[in-house]
Amino acid sequence: MTINKHNLSHLPLGDHKTAPWYGKDIISVKQFDREALEYIFAVSHEMHDMVDHIGTFDLLKGKILANLFYEPSTRTSSSFTAAMERLGGSVIPINEVKYSSVSKGESLADTVRTLECYADVIVLRHPEVGSAAIAAKAAHKPVINAGDGIGEHPTQALLDAFTIREEIGHLDGLTVTLLGDLKHGRTVHSLARLLSLYKVKINYVSPDILRMPPELIDELKQKGIEQTEYFTLDECLPQTDVLYVTRVQKERFADEATYESVKGAYVIDPTVMKAAKERMIVMHPLPRVGEISTEFDNDPRAAYFRQMEYGLYVRMALLAMVLGKA
Ligand code: ASP
Ligand code: CP
Repeated sequence: MTINKHNLSHLPLGDHKTAPWYGKDIISVKQFDREALEYIFAVSHEMHDMVDHIGTFDLLKGKILANLFYEPSTRTSSSFTAAMERLGGSVIPINEVKYSSVSKGESLADTVRTLECYADVIVLRHPEVGSAAIAAKAAHKPVINAGDGIGEHPTQALLDAFTIREEIGHLDGLTVTLLGDLKHGRTVHSLARLLSLYKVKINYVSPDILRMPPELIDELKQKGIEQTEYFTLDECLPQTDVLYVTRVQKERFADEATYESVKGAYVIDPTVMKAAKERMIVMHPLPRVGEISTEFDNDPRAAYFRQMEYGLYVRMALLAMVLGKA
């Protein structure tokens, strides 16, 4: 029998039991419970210590990651590369699919089946919702969703939760305000779902046409999460412990005029932030295009650059987990 992720759990071997994420795909945050998150936080914390103390080490020596990006990326792509290299592994980068056989019409399924001949794990960013699940079905090696259109961005949500944990110490009891393009923002879709594992209050602040999808609000309501929608920030900013700002996702709009009508809806700057708590944090998945003024960057509450760094440790943890080393 060929051993792959589809039949791994039926094998009478001990190894996969001690490494529960060995061979698994990471497609949606729905795969995680609080216990799994605690585990990821602990491993990520350990990775941070290891990087601080020894920089690079050989946990994944000889392993290869295929980094397959059909959409632009700076952080996700480079932090997965850095994560693999910090763990002693190497990377096949396909950041410009136009130079690959995708431009000749090769399907996503065939592309991942090709890459898994050469790599041990595939990281995929793609413009279509559900693409990561399709790729995972086609592949025998683990597939990690690095963003599927307006669907999910699970590894971002994991690093967001880790950021909150490291910066504030806990998630229970917090009031989290998600601001901006909540309709198209895959990071807030994943983050809201992940936060629903905790006892949090969630505020949604967006223009009317960019509201959080009602299905997602319903999903969280079933779990007993208190959620409130606003069009302006001033009503809920003073109670907020985590303000999560997002970019209006220009590339998801059918026409330029609609984008222009909402693009500058909210701008966080030192004046706005006078109304916020002294001890709270401002996060952003980045890139920003004007929704947080650079004048706020030196405020200790500005956590978005630290958030990017936490992403490295979380992605090291996830790679070690799916490759059976954590
Ligand atoms: N970088 C994040 C994403 O790819 C957020 C953004 O692009 O605005 O979803
Ligand atoms: N946060 C995030 O996904 O950034 P990139 O789009 O630069 O990867």
